[in-house]
Amino acid sequence: MGQNIVNELEYKDKNDILDIINQYNKDKNNLITILQEVQKILGFLPHNAIYFLSEELKMSPAEIYGVATFYTQFKFEEIGKYLIVCCDGTACHVKGSPLILNFIENYLGIKPGETSNNKIYTLESVACLGCCAISPVCIINGDTYGDLTTNKIKRILNKLEKEIKD
Ligand code: FES
Repeated sequence: MGQNIVNELEYKDKNDILDIINQYNKDKNNLITILQEVQKILGFLPHNAIYFLSEELKMSPAEIYGVATFYTQFKFEEIGKYLIVCCDGTACHVKGSPLILNFIENYLGIKPGETSNNKIYTLESVACLGCCAISPVCIINGDTYGDLTTNKIKRILNKLEKEIKD
């Protein structure tokens, strides 16, 4: 499902990433080092690189985001304090992800790919994160939130707002 995204990767970048993956034996236990090396050559970790790594390391994009967003050293572009990655893959879409995304957009006043002016929130909409069983799904700074409803996401966003103020 992430194939289109992977195709956006430049040929050279793909080869460079493959070199890194091979250098670390295609072993997912070396994920952090691999991510560090990838970030070194690309400057940050774009979504297409994450999807490519997920294919090569046989891990779901959610697992990689889970690790990568845990460490502040990793950058996905100029991102806010909270990176909200919202899945709009087929399973999530069918289960209502457009409503969730729409709610977040209105709540935060930003669209996917944007960062709020105060640099607190970055919103991304991506294809399948590999945890369709709990769709619709969002990952916020590495934490996975599943079976989302607009009420549930509202509570989550309210909680983040409270964290920021405290
Ligand atoms: S479609 Fe959303 S996790 Fe698979």
